Amino acid sequence: MKPFARALLFALALLVPTVTQLAVAQAQAAPDRVEVWKSPSCGCCGGWVDHMRAAGFAVTVHEVDDLEPVKRSGGVPEALGSCHTALVDGYVIEGHVPAGDVRRLLSERPAARGLSVPGMPMDAPGMDMATGEPYETILFGASGGDRVFARH
Ligand code: CU
Ligand code: CU
Repeated sequence: MKPFARALLFALALLVPTVTQLAVAQAQAAPDRVEVWKSPSCGCCGGWVDHMRAAGFAVTVHEVDDLEPVKRSGGVPEALGSCHTALVDGYVIEGHVPAGDVRRLLSERPAARGLSVPGMPMDAPGMDMATGEPYETILFGASGGDRVFARH
């Protein structure tokens, strides 16, 4: 083998593990942290937490009996309220918002307070009743007023 070829092989041998390690590090790069406030007895809230974890978010759960203070400080309009309230990267996530909408929110970063899926639509993640009934995700606290962010 020519010295050059040997040097090249040696360099490749060094590079392969480095590239592999980089890919692994990237895949494990700090997942987005979600903090959820829910009542201890809320089952569908736990379903949404599982949905977010499955989507790669690092979720911390706070069990509280009274969610009103959290919703108030998060600026969640009463009409847009749901069963649990979450915070991710400065945004408020109210109710059964699909993880994909949260990801889109974090990449588009609109000037707003956050997202809500008002009430508890039967087909939203964590409810998972697969009835085929459509529901909407609302962006709230934006300067132009609340608007539909996504239709499902
Ligand atoms: Cu719920
Ligand atoms: Cu909930």
